[in-house]
Amino acid sequence: MTSSPMHAAIGNERSEPAPVPIRIRVAIIGAGRGGSALLDGLHQIRTIEMVGIADRDPSAPGIKRAHELNVPVYDRVSDLIQNQGLHLVMDVTGDPAMEHMLRDQLPPGADILSGQASRLLWTLVQHEALLQAELLHAEKLAGIGSFAAGIAHDMNNPLQLILGLAENLAEETDLGAVHDQARDIIEAVKRTTAICRDLTSYSRRASLRQEAIIAVNGKLDEALKIARYAVALQDIEIRKRYQPDALVKGNPDELLHVFVNLITNAVQAMADKGTLTLETAVTADATRVRVSDTGCGIPPELLGRIFEPFFTTKPPGKGTGLGLYNIKSVIHHMNGTIAVESQVGRGSTFTLTFPHDSTAGERKPTP
Ligand SMILES: Nc1ncnc2c1ncn2[C@@H]1O[C@H](COP(=O)(O)OP(=O)(O)O)[C@@H](O)[C@H]1O
Ligand SMILES: [Mg+2]
Repeated sequence: MTSSPMHAAIGNERSEPAPVPIRIRVAIIGAGRGGSALLDGLHQIRTIEMVGIADRDPSAPGIKRAHELNVPVYDRVSDLIQNQGLHLVMDVTGDPAMEHMLRDQLPPGADILSGQASRLLWTLVQHEALLQAELLHAEKLAGIGSFAAGIAHDMNNPLQLILGLAENLAEETDLGAVHDQARDIIEAVKRTTAICRDLTSYSRRASLRQEAIIAVNGKLDEALKIARYAVALQDIEIRKRYQPDALVKGNPDELLHVFVNLITNAVQAMADKGTLTLETAVTADATRVRVSDTGCGIPPELLGRIFEPFFTTKPPGKGTGLGLYNIKSVIHHMNGTIAVESQVGRGSTFTLTFPHDSTAGERKPTP
């Protein structure tokens, strides 16, 4: 794209002038399930700065998550609470002795949230995570409704073929021809089974804590296969610029859903004609995924709104307005960012950036 495209970015790469927020500096004591859930929920909130999390057990779930999110980890509580300018310490150890210790040692000006209050907050955060997962699934199911025509078409072709072959077989006397036709029938059945398999795996609920190292190029190809049911791709030129071994860490089902959504949006914006470019790149600091289209583009005044829940410019049945909202939450959960560049009448590019985290050493390319 040429001359100054409009930008909007969500996450660390914001380019819109945002009101200067008061950052609340928060520390978490206890990295069990409660601490881990709090960390997960709070790190997504831009006005909160996670100063660190402390636990004696280096294998606690919250410690692992903190490493992924680049949140400092402490094994001694006293080291953590010595951080300058701490506003709030959340104690989820449930240990009354800890509360006393904190009251004695905490610098003036810092508040403590402990006991039932921190339990309540943890419960709320978990509840929100469940709602988020439900919303993701509901939006996916709503989208699958629009697949019906595509599936019917793709199932009908092999079924018609099977019918024709079976009619021939009923009168066929030559054994060699019978064998050939039987083989064709088997191939046609395999094609319909493959369609069913793609869709059942796509429509299943993303398991909540299924984290893996995902080969991005393969996921993009899988998404393209699924998106074919939702949108007509026959007149779309598809360009793939894949860098081998592009890997990210996250939930494979959720990432597939993200890619299907971005591709569907791109194709819908092109009104059945144009070029869809899928691109992956690995740099020293991050893995990047780009989905670009040569579609209608997004007017500057709407660019800041497209990630809002229920914001859609599509007629009922075509859009829910939840796609980009869900994408943003999945990407944030993966500690990534999403940014968009768009020019009306020329097209849009969505860029996902996944910084290599401190566990990047584990990202050995699969052979
Ligand atoms: N690639 C794109 N090109 C043009 N407009 C887009 C693109 N992707 C998203 N949009 C705009 O953002 C809105 C919100 O997208 P989304 O959250 O996926 O909801 P939906 O697709 O259900 O409308 C769309 O209605 C559309 O106006
Ligand atoms: Mg959409």
